[in-house]
Amino acid sequence: MRTKYYKVDLSEPDLSVLAAAADILKQGGLVAFPTETVYGLGANGLDAHAVAGIFRAKGRPADNPLILHIDSPDKINDLAVSVPGSAQALIGQYWPGPLTVIVERRSCVPDAVTGGLNTVAVRLPASLIARELIRLAGVPVAAPSANISGRPSPTAAQDVLADMDGKIDAVIDAGPCAIGVESTVVDCTTPVPTLLRPGGITYEMLTAVLGEVEVDPALAGSRAVPKSPGMKYTHYAPLAPMFLVEGDRSIVVREVQQALAAGKRVGAVVSAETAAGLPPAAITVVYGSHADAHAIAANLYTALRSFDNKAVDVIYAEGIAEQGLGLAVMNRMRKAAGYRIIRN
Ligand code: TXA
Ligand code: MG
Repeated sequence: MRTKYYKVDLSEPDLSVLAAAADILKQGGLVAFPTETVYGLGANGLDAHAVAGIFRAKGRPADNPLILHIDSPDKINDLAVSVPGSAQALIGQYWPGPLTVIVERRSCVPDAVTGGLNTVAVRLPASLIARELIRLAGVPVAAPSANISGRPSPTAAQDVLADMDGKIDAVIDAGPCAIGVESTVVDCTTPVPTLLRPGGITYEMLTAVLGEVEVDPALAGSRAVPKSPGMKYTHYAPLAPMFLVEGDRSIVVREVQQALAAGKRVGAVVSAETAAGLPPAAITVVYGSHADAHAIAANLYTALRSFDNKAVDVIYAEGIAEQGLGLAVMNRMRKAAGYRIIRN
């Protein structure tokens, strides 16, 4: 299949282009589109056959459920049996935005979307293009990140094409995504709402609205079986093996020097501050200033993907503080490293 390429302006999208893309969705096709977090791979979320195409294109395990994207808050009532108070409070504060709520599903939601669970994940993106596309399609749009399963999520249209060219009907290019890590996923069906995946809406922002929030034990950096099915798979991984350094930043320099001395071709994903101290023989990619979690989140996946066409045997990544967006960044870096973590 030839993948159509549509370029649109982020703030003033050409509606006739979005209408053409929406037609593809209505006909059961697959369209990759930008959101404020990452690019999604969309299909009609009420059409099990169309949704099956998403799993095929990504090579995604069938038990990993998808998020349904809607274009106005009230549409959640078409998908959920009921919307608990916790979900209402979060929606009131953070929609549209990088927040996904898990609620009890209605029977109109196909099993293909939920992986057979009796719950469904729902999100109202902040991205104007995403919302217009969903509005024009006239259906909830099922969309995982538009990468091959296990690879870093795409934050630019070129990344989508690197993984999906020829496998999907179209991609809408609106430039790089502002946030760069996926939405926060909160299970609102538990007595105390549970954070399943940290993201653009931070833990601190959740507790500000809800008071108490449980954290899925699987997020504590261990391999405990997570409640969010997708969190159990290897994820976000670059092609070369990666080690995450969580200790003092000087350890990154030490590890890189040792690997170079052992004759390895070494990549480093680090802050600007640490980059200054690395030997020139290392292939260094800077993800931002070490105190700027927003920049690091926005650059992380591009940084990881940048090693795909560089010959490196091993990659060392520098960890950051787990506050604010740093929690989501560290969650993704640990997974990208396959939990190969160096602490001292
Ligand atoms: O920012 C985002 O959320 C992006 C953009 C495209 O919207 N989408 C995204 O989708 O990251 P995906 O499929 O890559 O991640 C969805 C996560 C997975 O970890 C999945 O297991 C979880 O949400 N999930 C979906 N439905 C669920 C459910 N009913 N219960 C628990 N977890 C669920
Ligand atoms: Mg994903």
